[in-house]
Amino acid sequence: MSFVTPLTVAWFYVPGLLTALGEGMVGDGYKDLVNIDISSVVIEAMQKKYQERPELKYIKMDVRDMSDFESGSFDAVIDKGTLDSLMCGHNAQQNATKMLEEVGRILKDKGIYILITYGAPNFRLSLLREPHLWTIKLHLIEKLGSEARSRPTWELTNPIPLDDDGSLVTSTLGENPDVHYTYVCIKDSSLRMQ
Ligand SMILES: C[S@@+](CC[C@H](N)C(=O)[O-])C[C@H]1O[C@@H](n2cnc3c(N)ncnc32)[C@H](O)[C@@H]1O
Repeated sequence: MSFVTPLTVAWFYVPGLLTALGEGMVGDGYKDLVNIDISSVVIEAMQKKYQERPELKYIKMDVRDMSDFESGSFDAVIDKGTLDSLMCGHNAQQNATKMLEEVGRILKDKGIYILITYGAPNFRLSLLREPHLWTIKLHLIEKLGSEARSRPTWELTNPIPLDDDGSLVTSTLGENPDVHYTYVCIKDSSLRMQ
């Protein structure tokens, strides 16, 4: 049986969830997972931890400048918390824009950027929509231990409706709902030409 192995960039943290995600993906047969972080401490620790796992590569790199990667060389990018981290720092808007430009550049057309974030649509949608490069769907994951059982639960696999400015989601869920937001953004270069 032939098996197409996507290349994936996963940004991680120690002992973050994506370390487990990387291991899990290797267990599922993915063979080429490139993990990057700006922290040499994190990268060295992970290189040591996974020295017996050649499928997992760890590279110190700044997401705002991934020029070591060729354009259109990745099928998927998974981001849990890295965009959030930039959004909390100085020059947030500028840095986030640079990062998203680079993500868009290294992905193949129809490649997927999966953004797992605390950012509700009213804080993330305009940033994601600005370059006219992505078709965007939003999925919700309820936080573990969430006690808000009176409101409806969302199937992870069903996207929830988005309006222009994301206010629909806020009005449905209320302020500070117990959820993680997962934006599934598919690169569509034809959108730039419209
Ligand atoms: C909130 S943590 C991410 C958590 C991790 N993804 C997880 O799932 O546990 C943010 C990470 O982003 C990294 N980071 C911050 N700025 C970065 C940049 N410009 N380029 C690459 N990594 C960056 C930090 O070193 C840190 O490891």
